Amino acid sequence: MKRILSGIKPTGAPHLGNYFGMMKPCIALQEQGEAFYFIADYHALTTVRDPEAMREHTRGVALDFLACGLDPVKAVIFRQSDVPEHTELAWILSCFTPMPMLENCHAFKDHLAKQKTPVHGLFAYPVLMAADILLYDSNVVPVGRDQKQHVEVTRDIAGAINRTYPKAGHSPGGDGLFVIPEPSIIPHVATVVGLDGQKMSKSYDNTIPIFDAEKPMRKKIMGIVTDSSPVEAPKDPSVSTIVALYRLFAGEADVEKMEADFRAGGVGYGDFKKRLFDALWEYFRPMREKRAALAADPTHVDGVLASGAARAHAVASATMERVRRAVGLR
Ligand code: ADP
Ligand code: TRP
Repeated sequence: MKRILSGIKPTGAPHLGNYFGMMKPCIALQEQGEAFYFIADYHALTTVRDPEAMREHTRGVALDFLACGLDPVKAVIFRQSDVPEHTELAWILSCFTPMPMLENCHAFKDHLAKQKTPVHGLFAYPVLMAADILLYDSNVVPVGRDQKQHVEVTRDIAGAINRTYPKAGHSPGGDGLFVIPEPSIIPHVATVVGLDGQKMSKSYDNTIPIFDAEKPMRKKIMGIVTDSSPVEAPKDPSVSTIVALYRLFAGEADVEKMEADFRAGGVGYGDFKKRLFDALWEYFRPMREKRAALAADPTHVDGVLASGAARAHAVASATMERVRRAVGLR
């Protein structure tokens, strides 16, 4: 059976990019194998400095995931720091990771380009991510396109270690110490655009959180950046942020209608934004209702995360035992 694994950082409220790029594909994949999804709090510690915010976002992201359809019986959902083997394996992997490979990673390069001094945790981030993936003998890693490079780093590190220990105990179903994972990226939603037309990201302050209250969500949609074409002018749907977002959750006929209205002219951007808001609000209505029901019992999420941690730990500790033996630490 296929192992599926992905993680999301508790750095804020999940937005449309997180949902369509990662959460929705993860939820679909829980039907197709043994899925492990975790809240990457060790990763978030590279930037989050407020302990209360860290705890709050960790529970919030878990709640959002459950509300969106993650089934904690089918999939294992857990908090990364509840399974300390992640950091133990990260150290071992770092002993095999060439520095230039990490110097080439985009998050690190972006930091340098902005003249910021990266912390070591940011530099080593791809190694911790490789540990997350390899610890569970994962075959498939559903992520947004920006994470593809990190899965490639994971494949390179795992390949190097497999070649170093050709006689080591094999991973179940694999042909070396580690299983070599594949990224899984949904092509047409590979990058969800934000309010300003750039990639939607918490770091650009251009997000639409999926569970925003009605007023702020409406305000954000009405604030989408457009050109200054007058109402009567024909407009180009292929370059519009409104259409790009609408495509994510409107039916085909509604999308065609919006595109035709763009080309015909006579409808202003304000009207298109209202259509977008209505579709968005309806799309998330059942999930919003489920979230409210789940949030009514604050102990529910903690219980789900505790049982997820126990299930994850059982797998992680077996892998670590295999790895320690292979490299001579036992
Ligand atoms: P952010 O950029 O807002 O900090 P994260 O880095 O926490 O988001 O991303 C969590 C997951 O969501 C990753 O798998 C990432 O690829 C995906 N993701 C984030 N933003 C987008 C986007 N705009 N389009 C598609 N996927 C995205
Ligand atoms: N780096 C991912 C992100 O920024 C989160 C993450 C951490 C992850 N570990 C992972 C994703 C392992 C997939 C697999 O979104």
